Amino acid sequence: KAQNVVKVAFQVNGAAQTLELDSRVVLLDALREHLALTGSKKGCDQGQCGACTVLVDGQRVLSCLTLAATLGGREVTTIEGLAKGDQLHPVQAAFIKHDGFQCGYCTPGQICSAVGVLAEAQRGHVSHVTGDVRKTTTRLTDDEIKERMSGNICRCGAYPGIVAAVQEVHSGRQ
Ligand code: FES
Ligand code: FES
Repeated sequence: KAQNVVKVAFQVNGAAQTLELDSRVVLLDALREHLALTGSKKGCDQGQCGACTVLVDGQRVLSCLTLAATLGGREVTTIEGLAKGDQLHPVQAAFIKHDGFQCGYCTPGQICSAVGVLAEAQRGHVSHVTGDVRKTTTRLTDDEIKERMSGNICRCGAYPGIVAAVQEVHSGRQ
């Protein structure tokens, strides 16, 4: 019998999953190698690129630095879980409209991160570039979006399109 096996029961994109995993398996590898959800990407495996970003209970996390065994009872949302059937999530649609990607490898992480940023803004979270942190505002400038998305690297240089896409969804402008 394999050693160090742990059982983890959690939700992934609304479906209950129970996995028996080596305790060292990170969420990213559990998704990709055990659940065949390959939308979450591995760009570095050390928390430096953001390609593996997913949502846990609605908050963005780096799945390469998250042990799957810590997620019992939690709700994980990956890029595969954002669309409703054929109906794209507004952030997905905006990324297409504004050319927020080229090769597409950073894109699932960018989009999950953007969904997290929008929720953080709604809750009034401040960032490093927030002028007066005593005043909470839910309105994001482009500079705020750039700062808050800076944990997601894009070597294709799609940043202008990414900011435009996030801003469109955030502001409700079309
Ligand atoms: S693969 Fe997780 S941050 Fe790069
Ligand atoms: S679209 Fe290629 S790395 Fe971002």
